[in-house]
Amino acid sequence: MNVLEVKNLSFSYPDKNILNNLSFNVQKGDFLCVVGTNGTGKSTLLKLILNILQKQNGEIKLLNTSSEDFKDFSKIAYVSQKATSFNRDFPATVEEIVTLGLYSKKGFLKSYTKEDKQKVCSALKRVGMYEYKNRKIGNLSGGQQQRVFIAKALVSSPEILFLDEPTVGIDIKAVDSICCLLGDLNKSGLTIIMVTHDISSTLFHSNKVLVLSEDGKGELMSSEKFSSNSISSHLHHNN
Ligand SMILES: Nc1ncnc2c1ncn2[C@@H]1O[C@H](COP(=O)(O)OP(=O)(O)O)[C@@H](O)[C@H]1O
Ligand SMILES: [Mg+2]
Repeated sequence: MNVLEVKNLSFSYPDKNILNNLSFNVQKGDFLCVVGTNGTGKSTLLKLILNILQKQNGEIKLLNTSSEDFKDFSKIAYVSQKATSFNRDFPATVEEIVTLGLYSKKGFLKSYTKEDKQKVCSALKRVGMYEYKNRKIGNLSGGQQQRVFIAKALVSSPEILFLDEPTVGIDIKAVDSICCLLGDLNKSGLTIIMVTHDISSTLFHSNKVLVLSEDGKGELMSSEKFSSNSISSHLHHNN
């Protein structure tokens, strides 16, 4: 079952063409990595899918609904590239940050119930950060902060999780453990669409790779094919 359909999508900023007639589908249970050099439009693509940016040409269907009409925001979650670049003195605790993830569903005026608190605790347990729930977010390591933002995304039990370079600026051990966490979440049924430059840490967990190129085209392939391609081009390089 397709949970995302992108058809003939093109996009330009006023001074620059970015995406050029891009088409691909994502199925329920997929773990898709989106790769490409800087500036190829990976973040732009996610923002178009999530209707943060308005599309100009082509079609995007998210959970069978055109992206402009999509309203069921509890079914999707987005960890943006900027998620962890906040003021380190920000006074919120881990538990408070994760609680914010419930508001898209409840609206700000609803009260925080016992059931909500349980959802927050269970999301924190899923990412291994429950023991830190009373800590200030600013006092955690980059990898721990990113786990908290993943918990915030999981708290509304989404069907699709979008992440934009969640491992930037995190040390390599933490990168591997976050990739394992995402792999486990995917195995438990969550569809994942992730922009990443850490493809070597992720390839083992993902099943598909979308390669964006500088001409705005994209090629979707299996992770196996991508890894044999990149190995062969690497070998070629050394010969
Ligand atoms: N709001 C914007 N206005 C104009 N150009 C932009 C804007 N956002 C991004 N760009 C440019 O569009 C290109 C693609 O950006 P982006 O989608 O962020 O690439 P990526 O995430 O693959 O690095 C880059 O050259 C970037 O400088
Ligand atoms: Mg980007």
